[in-house]
Amino acid sequence: MEDLILVTGGAGFIGSNFILQWIASEPARIVNLDKLTYAGNLNNLRAVEAHARYRFEQGDIVDREFFRNLLRREQPRAIVHFAAESHVDRSIHGPDDFVRTNVNGTFSLLEEARAYWLALSEVDRALFRFLHVSTDEVYGSLGPNDPAFSETTPYNPNSPYSASKAASDHLVRAYHHTYNLPVLTTNCSNNYGPHQFPEKLIPLMILNACAGEPLPVYGDGENVRDWLYVEDHCRAIRTVLSHGRVGETYNIGGRSERRNLEIVGAICDLLDELRPSDPAVPHSKLVSFVKDRPGHDKRYAMDTRKIERELNWHPLETFETGIRKTVRWYLEHEDWVREVTSGSYRQWMAKHYATEH
Ligand code: NAD
Ligand code: DAU
Repeated sequence: MEDLILVTGGAGFIGSNFILQWIASEPARIVNLDKLTYAGNLNNLRAVEAHARYRFEQGDIVDREFFRNLLRREQPRAIVHFAAESHVDRSIHGPDDFVRTNVNGTFSLLEEARAYWLALSEVDRALFRFLHVSTDEVYGSLGPNDPAFSETTPYNPNSPYSASKAASDHLVRAYHHTYNLPVLTTNCSNNYGPHQFPEKLIPLMILNACAGEPLPVYGDGENVRDWLYVEDHCRAIRTVLSHGRVGETYNIGGRSERRNLEIVGAICDLLDELRPSDPAVPHSKLVSFVKDRPGHDKRYAMDTRKIERELNWHPLETFETGIRKTVRWYLEHEDWVREVTSGSYRQWMAKHYATEH
């Protein structure tokens, strides 16, 4: 095996932050396999595109032959699997791609990884890891006073997205239990930070507020999420990859539960400070309550004591420091924003917000 890891979905939000952090912190090479769907963006990786330890391969994780050849050629010591369809609202409009990529794609990777792993020498077999990146949404929804999700909370997914992620988690677990494939699974709460596609709450609100457009809050805005700065998530994945116990799952979160209205309020306050001459100030006057998301989960919260205790991982950012960095990043990267908000993004916004609400 080479001192090399293979990531899937590395042109997306979390994957690209992971690659940038990896190149800055780890000696091993990294190969990025990505289909470049609407969510994949090679501009996220400009800083490393010519780096000697980085290489990009365009391909679809459902394509087994392609993946088999890639494994043969690159001989990775680990696979870190980010690739997925990731937006809950899109999964409600059209679940097909979610089942195809998240379920069938993960199955293809597991099958090919198993064959590759079995053919390795005994020493290399013991070192190999398949790390599956998953979400807190597989656990379902909490009431206001329920204890946070732990690694033993029963699965109870509610959207086509979370059901497809739950299915993939089960497959990963089964490949360890049945075939001994050395897997690790991480379940993380809501990420935010640079490179997040502006269909998700935080970047959408930042960009709409700057443009003086309505800030569409679903329902009463009282839904609660736990927020983690993306670089903290990437550090957690690196920690689990190097020190996690094979076959285990690790919950990751920011211990930062916030109501959606609090998130929108925090963004508006920062923009009032950083952009006092915007068309609509205070920015909070743009808040507009719209029809709720069907089946909208009320609350997510993560019990992260296992990764803290076993692997000594803790987030470095608070929500306040992370959101300030994030707002600044979007304000300072107008070219990136212009590029991702052209074309198909406009169609999504028109379809989802104009016709549904
Ligand atoms: P994203 O939508 O920003 O990026 C997904 C990437 O996967 C894109 O680059 C896309 O081109 C690629 N991709 C999609 N289908 C593919 C296919 N068939 N073959 C190859 N590549 C394909 O997603 P993200 O927010 O970066 O999430 C990454 C992973 O982390 C996902 O598995 C997601 O479920 C999980 N996760 C996300 C969050 C979050 O808050 N964003 C939280 C917890 C877990
Ligand atoms: O919890 C982890 C998950 O977080 C990840 O697995 C998903 O990939 C990721 O997309 C995210 O899912 P959410 O549905 O929680 O994120 P989203 O940003 O879409 O929405 C966050 C909250 O904000 C949610 O309660 C819905 C609400 N919302 C969202 C949008 C896009 C609004 O009120 N208005 C909006 O326009």
